[in-house]
Amino acid sequence: MSIDQIIAEGVAKAVKALYGIDADAASIVPQATRKEFEGNLTVVVFPWVKAARKAPEAVGAEIGQWLVENEPAVARFNTVKGFLNIVVEPTYWNKVLAHIAGTPDYGSVPVTDNSPLVMVEYSSPNTNKPLHLGHVRNNLLGYSLSRILEACGNKVVKTNIVNDRGIHICKSMLAWQKWGDGATPESTGKKGDHLIGDFYVLFDKHYRAEVKEIAERENIPAEEAEKRSTLMAEARDMLRRWEAGDPEIRGLWERMNSWVYAGFDQTYKRLGVDFDKIYYESQTYLEGKEKVLEGLEKGLMYRKEDGSVWADLTNEGLDHKLLLRADGTSVYMTQDIGTAKLRFRDYPIDRMIYVVGNEQNYHFQVLSLLLDRLGFKWGKDLVHFSYGMVELPEGKMKSREGTVVDADDLMEEMVTEAREVSREMDKLQGLSEEEVAEIAETVGMGALKYFLLKVDPRKNMLFNPKESIDFNGNTGPFIQYTYARIRSVLRKAAEKGFAIGDYSSVVPNDKEIALIQTLADFPSTVQEAGRTFSPALIANYAYDLVKQFNQFYHDYTILGEEDEPTRSLRLTLCDQTSRVVKAAMALLGIRVPERM
Ligand code: ARG
Repeated sequence: MSIDQIIAEGVAKAVKALYGIDADAASIVPQATRKEFEGNLTVVVFPWVKAARKAPEAVGAEIGQWLVENEPAVARFNTVKGFLNIVVEPTYWNKVLAHIAGTPDYGSVPVTDNSPLVMVEYSSPNTNKPLHLGHVRNNLLGYSLSRILEACGNKVVKTNIVNDRGIHICKSMLAWQKWGDGATPESTGKKGDHLIGDFYVLFDKHYRAEVKEIAERENIPAEEAEKRSTLMAEARDMLRRWEAGDPEIRGLWERMNSWVYAGFDQTYKRLGVDFDKIYYESQTYLEGKEKVLEGLEKGLMYRKEDGSVWADLTNEGLDHKLLLRADGTSVYMTQDIGTAKLRFRDYPIDRMIYVVGNEQNYHFQVLSLLLDRLGFKWGKDLVHFSYGMVELPEGKMKSREGTVVDADDLMEEMVTEAREVSREMDKLQGLSEEEVAEIAETVGMGALKYFLLKVDPRKNMLFNPKESIDFNGNTGPFIQYTYARIRSVLRKAAEKGFAIGDYSSVVPNDKEIALIQTLADFPSTVQEAGRTFSPALIANYAYDLVKQFNQFYHDYTILGEEDEPTRSLRLTLCDQTSRVVKAAMALLGIRVPERM
């Protein structure tokens, strides 16, 4: 039982004994006592004041007195109005610490056969261009959320939907056919996803030039000129031929997508994310089409004169939604219907979570309604984990085209920057080139990940590379650095042959108690992060923990402590702090270095 539970149960017993009130211990939630008062945990006594027919202060005093007499974990108390501040018996904290040390997978709830199955979709790129900064936030959130939900005792299936077909990839294919000169990743030395992205940009360049030329020649507005573009007509024709299974188009498509996948794999690997099951739009969109046509037959959808198929959502307060184009080709929404159907067929999903940016809020609102209308009972319960945009301060790390920030470039810059900072700080002496590279990778990626994950996922944010790599403050490197420092203390302790002995009778000081209390908060923080889908809670917890540790480390010696039980307590604190820091960072997908 945690100390919070012991106090809650004690208080429940006290109000029963004192006032005959049946209080549910689960509803009594002790809070950490505020700094200005003496105490570790505070209980609010207002709920019992009326039944006790006494002033709040008196009720607090009676409950406090009862606890001191009956609950061995309680040493003293004081009351401030309706707040009962409880001082836990100092040596009791040693038991709390020993309990933490003895708990395998501390912070995690075990997954069993009966655990609910959560499917988390994240990443979900189109195959016409490389991943960018927005994808980075997406991937990190999705991966971290998956690990947190797993730690909360869920079976988690990490999934990805690769939007590998559609007009966008046809544009890249067409540009490659027209102007590619047979270029391949091998012949150009370019990463495959970048190569395809360059052709997508090239298509757009030619398309815009064509539209401008038509508009000027015919003296018509741009929107009119767009309709007359031969390039766009060719791309659409290619899409039709793709859907018809034209072998030449399919062959080119497969070849170009395989280049993209090799590129994505490299990016995912460096980001440290992976998937248990990948779906491809090319394998799900027909299911979607079928469902839409089925819905059409049942009168749930309607067909316009031009042959296109739509859903009327005006009764739900939305508008009309296109599901199949006039030429019969499928749209983005259609494949999501098919993908969802297949996922629920493949897995006994209890909860489906889509990690997708907030610019698609409307899309998911519609998807949920459509699935429900099509008769899927789970349609209504889909969760759209909608996160905010991320931007860079003006002038920092602009990509080739100056529009989006490329994920590969960003990671490379972060690692280079980490290496520079470490060099300047002279932290790398006596390490081999390989070790230096490894540490730069861990720190650069840690800085990036931590910075993106420490903020509320729902909010838009500004990513500042320089600030993220600071070795002080609320950053990944600061936490990593503290971890490495603790590990170094533990290595030295081992060299000196210090073993951990009995520390149960040591009276811990305030800093030690505060640290134990923070360590004890880890499991409930993980639960809270899972409940609220917030990796940010874990990030900020890790920061609080290392701050707490640093205060203790600053004030007390560890290796120089001569009293053996006290030294054992402190070494245990080092050991458990490093363990919990590592576990918390792992929930964020961040590695911690043994040296730094
Ligand atoms: N590929 C889409 C895009 O790049 C995002 C897909 C999100 N997931 C989904 N199930 N619709 O905009």
